[in-house]
Amino acid sequence: MKRRVAILISGRGSNMAALIEAAKAADFPAEIVAVISNRADAAGLEKAAASGIATIVIESKPFGKDRAGFEKVLQAALDRHGIELICLGGFMRLFTAEFTRAWYGRMLNIHPSLLPSFPGLDPHGQALRAGVKLSGATVHFVIPETDAGPIVMQGAVTVADDDTAETLAARVITIEHRIYPEALRLLASGRLKLEGDLCKTVGSGATDDTLIAPAP
Ligand code: GAR
Repeated sequence: MKRRVAILISGRGSNMAALIEAAKAADFPAEIVAVISNRADAAGLEKAAASGIATIVIESKPFGKDRAGFEKVLQAALDRHGIELICLGGFMRLFTAEFTRAWYGRMLNIHPSLLPSFPGLDPHGQALRAGVKLSGATVHFVIPETDAGPIVMQGAVTVADDDTAETLAARVITIEHRIYPEALRLLASGRLKLEGDLCKTVGSGATDDTLIAPAP
């Protein structure tokens, strides 16, 4: 049985689209059942509807600081669709600790940096200001702290001296679109094991790949 997944978005939804595309494969262990946006104008909603996926808008603005009130409505939508796993894809709303605890081990997020470096806003600007030579993207389980939690998968890219936040973002997003479906595949097929604050992957080892920058 495929695991039932909801993707939560606030914007363009390119990670959402990558997950939807991957889930079309007959052997993918998860099915994207619903896309939920906290903004009615999120561009991703149209893309999801065009793929025949149920779209739901729960505007968060009217709830203001009442996060629990918003989450009550969200949880009801998740229940209605029998959702077992959540993927956050550029979902720009913070959760209460209670909500993240209720979904612990069943809710993934993607962030465009090699966490724990550069959480929060402007991760590419942070990376450039720090002068790192490698950056990338991280899929992790969601915990109460923003852009933190057991790391499921990471992908790295080189950073060039003349990179801007825009050029770096463009390189990192291609990695995001590769690793998010793979991370969901691992979770949905039961290959992820939480051990304390760490996530281990059943039946996978290190690769010999290396990435060195700048090129010597
Ligand atoms: C992605 O780059 C994602 O990693 C980032 O928002 C973007 C959403 O793009 N998420 C975060 O920064 C979370 N802190 P998308 O709507 O095209 O997937």
